Amino acid sequence: MVNHKPIQVVAVSGGKGGVGKTSVAVNMGASLAQMGKEVFLFDADFGLSNVDVVLGLKPKFTIANVIENECTLEDIVIKGPFGLNIVPGSSGIQSLVQMQPQNYAGLIYAFNSLMGKLDTLIIDTAAGISDSVVRFALASQEIIIVVCDEPASIADSYALMKLLHKSYGVSRFRIVVNMSSSLYEAKKLFAKLTNVTDKFLNVVLHFLGWIPEEELVRKAIKQQRAVVEAYPSCKASQCFRHLAQGLVSLPPPKAGSGHVQFFIEQLINSPIVVQ
Ligand SMILES: Nc1ncnc2c1ncn2[C@@H]1O[C@H](COP(=O)(O)OP(=O)(O)OP(=O)(O)O)[C@@H](O)[C@H]1O
Ligand SMILES: [Mg+2]
Repeated sequence: MVNHKPIQVVAVSGGKGGVGKTSVAVNMGASLAQMGKEVFLFDADFGLSNVDVVLGLKPKFTIANVIENECTLEDIVIKGPFGLNIVPGSSGIQSLVQMQPQNYAGLIYAFNSLMGKLDTLIIDTAAGISDSVVRFALASQEIIIVVCDEPASIADSYALMKLLHKSYGVSRFRIVVNMSSSLYEAKKLFAKLTNVTDKFLNVVLHFLGWIPEEELVRKAIKQQRAVVEAYPSCKASQCFRHLAQGLVSLPPPKAGSGHVQFFIEQLINSPIVVQ
């Protein structure tokens, strides 16, 4: 087997719907691509505002076609801003997380074909704490929790971290505060969250960054473009690039875990407890 460079697998999650998971995944991914990284964004949500809709792309095939052996992963990848590679999801994601071991060899093979080309795999997860969200989070080396200053967002992100910690032993989360008015306010929200987790969970939260609430973010979404490409000099774009730099400076994946094969195996084999 060829010895490939390790890849970083990052899940973007958060519990609550509409907090900006897809915006963070897309703009952080595009910023990494702009920095010269080879990035794949795996759309593991098949709700309404998924990655292809946000970026105005119309995928012909999705991961479901790969699972069904109808085409290769390379056939379904579409190019996004700055050459960001997008792997379109679909309801095939459901079959992906429920797949039997005898059926996933083809998928490992498909993902392995990307090895050597790939620096970062970003997973945009759905809202909530479904099996699928938990599995993608567990298969990733880094879990980003997107939170905004709303009681429901704080409660849902706490619930997600609690589940991942208590049932699966996850002990580290990277926090992104979205739709904040300033770094100061974002840090205040981060402190609020840390206060709660310090009291009840044995986890470490790291502040990865913040994104301001900005009209240009909404405008870019309406134009179906990434804000970092459409309005590169606005404050939100600067903050998205800052997030990307933060990701790049994280320690490399532990030996053995920085492989696509490891990711797929984790995804399929992680035991799920019924809540
Ligand atoms: N920083 C921001 N400034 C202004 N508006 C924002 C910002 N981030 C997100 N939004 C708004 O919130 C909406 C939801 O964002 P997004 O789709 O990224 O959230 P999500 O968490 O992925 O949602 P879902 O749970 O439905 O997948 C966007 O359409 C946009 O209008
Ligand atoms: Mg989303």
